[in-house]
Amino acid sequence: LVGARANLEAILATTLKRRSTILDLPLATMLESRGPAPVHASLRAAIVGGRLPARSRLPSTRDLSRQLGVRRNVIVSAYEQLLVDGLVETRVGDGTYVASRLPPPVARTATPTVQVNTPSRRVFALGQTYVDPVLLRRLATVTRRRVALAMPADVGYGDPRGSEPLRSAVALYLRASRGVLCDPDCVLIVSGTQQGVRLCADALLEPGDRVWVEDPGYRVTQRTLLAVRMRLIPVPVDAAGLDVVVGRKVGRSAKAAYVTPTHQFPTGVTMTMERRVALLDWAREAKAWILEDDYDSEFRYDGPPLTALAGIDGSDRVIYIGTFTKMLFAGLRLAYVVVPRAVLDRVVAARAAHDRFPPCFMERAVADLMADGTLAAHIRRMRTRYRNARDMAAQALLQAAGGTLQLRVPTQGLHMVAYLPPGLPKGAAAQIRANADVQAWLLSETRIQHSRVDGFILGFAGHDVHELTAAASRLGNAARSFLAKRA
Ligand SMILES: Cc1ncc(COP(=O)(O)O)c(C=O)c1O
Repeated sequence: LVGARANLEAILATTLKRRSTILDLPLATMLESRGPAPVHASLRAAIVGGRLPARSRLPSTRDLSRQLGVRRNVIVSAYEQLLVDGLVETRVGDGTYVASRLPPPVARTATPTVQVNTPSRRVFALGQTYVDPVLLRRLATVTRRRVALAMPADVGYGDPRGSEPLRSAVALYLRASRGVLCDPDCVLIVSGTQQGVRLCADALLEPGDRVWVEDPGYRVTQRTLLAVRMRLIPVPVDAAGLDVVVGRKVGRSAKAAYVTPTHQFPTGVTMTMERRVALLDWAREAKAWILEDDYDSEFRYDGPPLTALAGIDGSDRVIYIGTFTKMLFAGLRLAYVVVPRAVLDRVVAARAAHDRFPPCFMERAVADLMADGTLAAHIRRMRTRYRNARDMAAQALLQAAGGTLQLRVPTQGLHMVAYLPPGLPKGAAAQIRANADVQAWLLSETRIQHSRVDGFILGFAGHDVHELTAAASRLGNAARSFLAKRA
């Protein structure tokens, strides 16, 4: 290598003296492997990076091969490839030159670090479910079978709505458990609630349209709406759900409302029938769409699931979105959208334009789990497990907080909200959270407009119960001592 470097220095010295021929190659790379590909790659990098400027003369193939100690045809092949790339030109009888017209060299900047926000998995994180070995084994079996028995139709391009068995199973399930009477034709399988919302916005709304969103609400989907250039109209939520009267005042002409009527996120409020009717009335009058996000209705702890808004909509203004994220797990990336028939072709076209169609094997496997009763049994088992986790966490929190936190123990879902007394200084909730060393979302982090009330959104599913109760105690203690210092 020392000798080779000296060779390169010699080449550079000569070429710089002659000025017309310049060469500055990463010699070590070339010498490690003597084929034409690395020589070509090194020369290409030197040209594209601007180290070999336009119109400069490359050494003759004979010179370079001799000096680098590689066979001449290696250099000839590399030069030929550069010629095909358009990076060099040959002049008859006068050798090979770097092309006279090249794009400006690619600026060498420090590689920026990519910031990827993967949601936390720590205690109280939302979106966690129990990793049930029984379920996983069964899922593995049906997936293996589906792959092993794949027909040509399963491995080619498919229906933009997703595979028929899962759409049928979802339609059956929604009819039986959510009161949503839908045809499998109108069900689209998507890769998550956000994709469902995005497809509806792409198909049915225009950039700049105003959309009602609950405040507090699910910021994740709100960000999706912003990404497709919707204008968010925050509408407050009270004990009866989204306040439709306020919505009409601040956004009468909105084109859609994104709501979680069965179990409002994050407050847990169920929208009253009066409000549901008022919302449907507004949608009919305004010709607006209601995007109903029904994300955790399977987990109702004291009675059967409530009827969805889509189940009482007689005017086809509701687009229903459900997900397997809570029923099974988030990593599946499987959700479903029920679209009114009148606009089905538009949403299907949006889906096809987006990514053609969803992958089919996991869909078929999940359809099998629905058909053979595995999913229903899993939900029953998880209901017991999650109810237990909810009770343990609530008890630990209330005990430690000594009355400083007000807890709404939910009858549904996988999270609960612990409220701080109103009127605490800004940053109090964040301070308590830091003192407790927990990573719960704050209520204020789900708001668009400021409120005097803050609190903690506590996911209780899918966490180790000991860790959960320990974290609940830490949070309760932190709240109590923070408030004691203020007293
Ligand atoms: C309000 C709400 N909607 C939807 C979801 C599920 O979203 P996805 O289907 O994208 O996993 C969640 C998950 O935590 C949620 O809280």
